[in-house]
Amino acid sequence: MDSVTKRYPDGTVAVDRLSLDVPDRSITVLVGPSGCGKTTTLRMINRMVEPTEGTILLDGEDIRRRPVTDLRRSMGYVIQNAGLFPHRTIVDNIATVPRMLGWGRRRARERAAELMERVGLDTSLAERYPYQLSGGQQQRVGVARALAADPPVLLMDEPFSAVDPVVRKGLQDELLRIQEELGKTIVFVTHDIDEAVKLGTMVAVLREGGRLAQYASPAELLSAPADGFVEDFLGADRGIRRLSFLPSAALELTTDAVVPADASAERIAASGARYLLVTDPDGRPLGWAEPGELIAGDISTDRLLPPGRPFVPGTDSLRVALDCAVLSPTGWAVAVDAGGRVTGIVSQQAIGEAIRAAHARGRTDQAGVAP
Ligand SMILES: Nc1ncnc2c1ncn2[C@@H]1O[C@H](COP(=O)(O)OP(=O)(O)O)[C@@H](O)[C@H]1O
Ligand SMILES: [Mg+2]
Repeated sequence: MDSVTKRYPDGTVAVDRLSLDVPDRSITVLVGPSGCGKTTTLRMINRMVEPTEGTILLDGEDIRRRPVTDLRRSMGYVIQNAGLFPHRTIVDNIATVPRMLGWGRRRARERAAELMERVGLDTSLAERYPYQLSGGQQQRVGVARALAADPPVLLMDEPFSAVDPVVRKGLQDELLRIQEELGKTIVFVTHDIDEAVKLGTMVAVLREGGRLAQYASPAELLSAPADGFVEDFLGADRGIRRLSFLPSAALELTTDAVVPADASAERIAASGARYLLVTDPDGRPLGWAEPGELIAGDISTDRLLPPGRPFVPGTDSLRVALDCAVLSPTGWAVAVDAGGRVTGIVSQQAIGEAIRAAHARGRTDQAGVAP
């Protein structure tokens, strides 16, 4: 989008000189308070609304040079409350566009069934009508319908805003999974900054008057909001939330205080640690104890403090590692491999130092200094 402005006939400036470069095969989120021009922006992309000024290019070509029907076929569109046809069954709703494109009934229905599975819907729902489905299920049908003709672009306008938080999380996870499989170019509108940060590869924060406040990756938004508006919009716990984007792989683990349940008296005494993490014969965590409370060769688990939730370095973020340490009865987080076997432990203090180091690195990166 190159300096795109939309002024409605009554003079309202819904979008004001918006320039955005939307990367291919990733999710770009437009986020901002109600009335800041998100829907208008999205609708200019498929020409349901025409810009007053500026140009929108798709693969380098001005979208005004493409026939509208052609353009819209290349763009699936999903809206809040799914917008399903109430008098058509689920399978017919999903098959709408393929049928319009002249596919045979059988092929269109097969495609619909395949898509139901893709979006996590049981195919036994195929012959129902929309009102016979929950809000979350209807929303999944909306996504399936938008994907039916396999368009390269998906436009999604607050698709999950009307469902409850638990269902919503399921829909978000499903969208990320589908996106990983299909690699669409998605422009996703929401007023929910947490949703934006979770789903977006890039996030455009819009403010009242349809002006772009910041366009950045979620990690960058959280670490360096452009101004007070963006900072307020991001809300509380910005520092903690930013840790979600930092890997835990570099944490230095120690194994001195990790002992098997049949450890000898010497082994128990040797570590010098205040707490020992006791493991079972497979190396899985059993719990914590002070060395003085342990009887060599026979450590009974009912005397142990619970091990706490473990984290997997390499997969989990620093946020998860910190959470594990905070919840641990000893303040030490337990690291495990994919099979749940202990690979070491790390203290809250060591995690704190890793966070400081990561922030310092971030600052030098932003300053353009070589690490
Ligand atoms: N058809 C229209 N005519 C006049 N003003 C409109 C029209 N559609 C939207 N607007 C106004 O444009 C602004 C942006 O609207 P919209 O793009 O729907 O915002 P959002 O999706 O971020 O809530 C609002 O002030 C809204 O009232
Ligand atoms: Mg809107």
